[in-house]
Amino acid sequence: MKAIGYVSILLLLSCVLKVCAQTAGPGMQPATRHHLMPVPASVRFNPGRLAVTKSFSVAARGHVDERLRAGVERAVRRLEGRTVLEFPQGLAGDANGAALVVECKGPGQTVPSVEEDESYSLDVSDKQAVLRAATVVGALRGLETFLQLLEGDRDGYFIPAVQIQDVPRFRWRGLLIDVGRHYEPLAVLKRNLDAMAAVKLNVFHWHLSEDQGFRIESKKFPKLTGLGSDGLFYTQDEARAIIAYASERGIRVVPEFDIPGHSTSWLVGYPELGSAPGPYKIERGAGIFEPALDPTNEEVYKFLDAFLGEMAALFPDAYLHIGGDENEGKQWDRNPKIQAFMREHAVKDNRALQTYFNQRLLKILNRHGKRMMGWDEIFQPDLPKDVVIQSWRGPSSLAEAAKRGYDGVLSAGYYIDLIYPASQHYLADPLPEGSTLTPAEAAHVLGGEATMWGEWVSPETIDSRIWPRTAAIAERLWSPRTVNDVDDMYRRLAVVSVQLEELGLTHEKNQAVMLRRLAGGEDNGALRTLASVVEPVKEYRRYEVRPQTMLSPLTGLVDAARPDSDAARRFAGEVDGLLSDAPRFETYSRDIQDTLTGWRDAGPQLEALIDRSPGLAEARPLAGDLSRIGTIGLEALSYLTKGVAPGNEWRDARLAALEEVAKPKAALEFPVIPSLRELVVAAYELPQLKTTTPADWRKRVKQLAAPAKK
Ligand code: ACM
Repeated sequence: MKAIGYVSILLLLSCVLKVCAQTAGPGMQPATRHHLMPVPASVRFNPGRLAVTKSFSVAARGHVDERLRAGVERAVRRLEGRTVLEFPQGLAGDANGAALVVECKGPGQTVPSVEEDESYSLDVSDKQAVLRAATVVGALRGLETFLQLLEGDRDGYFIPAVQIQDVPRFRWRGLLIDVGRHYEPLAVLKRNLDAMAAVKLNVFHWHLSEDQGFRIESKKFPKLTGLGSDGLFYTQDEARAIIAYASERGIRVVPEFDIPGHSTSWLVGYPELGSAPGPYKIERGAGIFEPALDPTNEEVYKFLDAFLGEMAALFPDAYLHIGGDENEGKQWDRNPKIQAFMREHAVKDNRALQTYFNQRLLKILNRHGKRMMGWDEIFQPDLPKDVVIQSWRGPSSLAEAAKRGYDGVLSAGYYIDLIYPASQHYLADPLPEGSTLTPAEAAHVLGGEATMWGEWVSPETIDSRIWPRTAAIAERLWSPRTVNDVDDMYRRLAVVSVQLEELGLTHEKNQAVMLRRLAGGEDNGALRTLASVVEPVKEYRRYEVRPQTMLSPLTGLVDAARPDSDAARRFAGEVDGLLSDAPRFETYSRDIQDTLTGWRDAGPQLEALIDRSPGLAEARPLAGDLSRIGTIGLEALSYLTKGVAPGNEWRDARLAALEEVAKPKAALEFPVIPSLRELVVAAYELPQLKTTTPADWRKRVKQLAAPAKK
């Protein structure tokens, strides 16, 4: 019991201050722990509250139009859903008696644009809330904030008294959805537009063509979808409906037609546009493919002029995205006609040939009244200054473009398909502290976009790959740079994630649906335990370790697992508490013991379930691993609790076992491994507590538990 004496006494001293600080601030103070996301530019809570009762009504002063009316209506219905109170229908005639008054100066822009004024202010007192905005879109943004302010207690629902002044930090806050790899039905897009609006995103980047599918109807070139889409595409009427739906919510729609590479699906119907004779088939794999449009063929420009003209008329946004990424030019290298053209016109390499292509494309787009946007590969210093660069390969190309006077949008850092935790995306900043850009250069950084690349998402899983992590990105793009506390972000994200469900998003609930199916409808508590502590492998390793095609069902355990395990984060927090907060050692220890026991015992139950569920066969090694980490953790916890340190053989054997568990299986990995390594190392290092401070000891454990850098 000696070492635990050290844990208790030494850690107690170091924690007294911290604990006292946390318990300060009683009773009647204004609310401060709000769950607003994104955090407004300025928030000041006051004492008092506006009760939300069944007589809750909204009045409008100033400009009122259909878009505003519909926006208010949607907000009121959501408030009803959340409170289970039935409110009066329609706008109230008398502003004095209304709970919420919306005061809008004017309509704003009829075609949503990057110049739109989205600012608003919200003043809530115990008598009334007043939302003021220059435009309808500003009012819509404020309504979302109003909804996020709702709280409840024994006295009922209420909005805390508050004064908010809000304006976005960046004008371009987007979400790309790739519907080329996998088609997503209209309902999926609509619910994601709703979610975007809820967190104040304002650009839907619609990635409409890929090697694996061409998804938008062309009346001029029907073979694009006729042969390139498996029948899964949007008609022009459907596209107009999406544009209208987005516009109602203050969201622009920027279409992308990715050329000259990523274009296999175009060539299935129109092989004559390609740089090799064909025939072409819709690509079913994932990766980078060779087919590319032939930039030396005049027919290609005629085709693009007609096609992009048609699209320019369909999509009202000022910008049209031409992709331009990942064209390796292998078909160009092998085509004698293209090689002859390059010699004849002194085009020195494929990059220069693509620049030539882009210059031609630019003229076509300008003729159709559009500004050209493309991935950072298209960036060339001699492009005109109204081209917009979307940076995916790193933030440096964005800064480089800005320095040369080009507008840019950051996506590097916001690749949500890479399955990184929200915390990582959250800290990626389009204009980080210490940026060397002048204010004039910085003004060219328009914002950022999360990218939902579609290789491994289906209508059933896509929400869980986008949400809730994209809400953290939305906050990065809207809120001041100084809003960057990761723990507080996660606290609010948990609340917002559940609120998104009222819009029909399935990111939370579909895991249960999928696990039930995998378990054949059986009781599957052990499977839920496993799914809660595994994450799909990061980056693009999924395809390497578990190859599939675009035709494969996305219904495996890896699809049910979610990117940023709450359970793993909670466990990491508890282990940290256990090792650094001695006064609460007992509490943490009990919680951790329960968790570890659950893992240990889930293993055998899972084995039995897997025997009857062949769809889960690939998860069998994970069942053993789950038991193993439960057991290892319990052993470590027992040493820590008893204050008896194990020998180095025990430590080495357990760390080696954890290394085996850390190897991905079924394209899944355990994000709790670092916490378990800490428990094992902490047990072994217990005697060191006698010779050092608790804080230094904690640091030492962390360092020793960190895996060696490869
Ligand atoms: C990209 O990820 N190739 C834009």
